[in-house]
Amino acid sequence: MGERLAVVSGGGTGIGAAVVRGLVIDGYDVIIVGRRGEVLRETAERISWESGRSSAVQAVVADLTDPAQVAGVVAAVGERTVDAVVNNAGGYLGGDTDTLVDVAAWWRANLDANVLTAVLLTEALLPALRRPGGRVVLVGSIAAQRGGAGPYSAAKAALHGWAYDLAARLGNEQITVNVVSPGYVADTEFFGDRMTPEGHAARVAATLVGRAGEPDDIAAAVRYLVGPSAGYVTGQVLGVNGGSVLGR
Ligand SMILES: NC(=O)c1ccc[n+]([C@@H]2O[C@H](COP(=O)([O-])OP(=O)(O)OC[C@H]3O[C@@H](n4cnc5c(N)ncnc54)[C@H](OP(=O)(O)O)[C@@H]3O)[C@@H](O)[C@H]2O)c1
Repeated sequence: MGERLAVVSGGGTGIGAAVVRGLVIDGYDVIIVGRRGEVLRETAERISWESGRSSAVQAVVADLTDPAQVAGVVAAVGERTVDAVVNNAGGYLGGDTDTLVDVAAWWRANLDANVLTAVLLTEALLPALRRPGGRVVLVGSIAAQRGGAGPYSAAKAALHGWAYDLAARLGNEQITVNVVSPGYVADTEFFGDRMTPEGHAARVAATLVGRAGEPDDIAAAVRYLVGPSAGYVTGQVLGVNGGSVLGR
């Protein structure tokens, strides 16, 4: 059994799975949360097996937009202390704009998927978070900083303001709250069948380093912020984007 416990939403795929693998290497037990049980169980089994710790990763099936299902994560944590909550679940959801009802549905879907998932999971786990030393990480997006994706951009930007408030609320308990803002990361389920060779090339060309991001690039930043040496870093937005958007 690891000495520390992390909860990673969307930990079954892409960036989340890379974060889980990294945190397990760092000695954490990890609870991963998502809606698809098969995907979660396969990832949990694979990473646990790779680590040689058979119960390193535990899968909990929950749609984190639903408060009732978030309770299942709290139950899985039980009496344990949570060292880190990594709010990685989210994604761009397409929608129609034919009517205002369509517009409302499209915006609500993106706000639910990217904001509510993080707010509900974090609020539910706050009582269990380690004091002092707990960590909250929100996975935002470069879209929050440069636009380009309508309600998804707006939803990811909303995480920034909430992170600042939460960092202020929890700072006196030595709990840090930060946003990791990825640029283009290939090899995840994010783009589904939306990505074209031209779209890929344009995103790579927009970086200063001339390549697409990998899930491990983002996981490295999350591992740093979760780790013991990052206790003086809070209320920050850390861009991991190959230089596509410059820091300010
Ligand atoms: N890839 C990129 O270029 C990129 C760039 C910037 C930001 N990001 C952000 O990075 C994060 C991870 O994305 P990714 O690229 O790794 O894509 P991904 O493979 O699609 O990962 C998203 C994960 O979130 C889970 N999820 C989505 N909605 C959920 C819900 N309501 N409840 C519980 N789990 C939910 C999904 O699992 P289920 O479907 O099984 O629920 C999936 O495992 C996302 O927040 C995304 O917006 C990605």
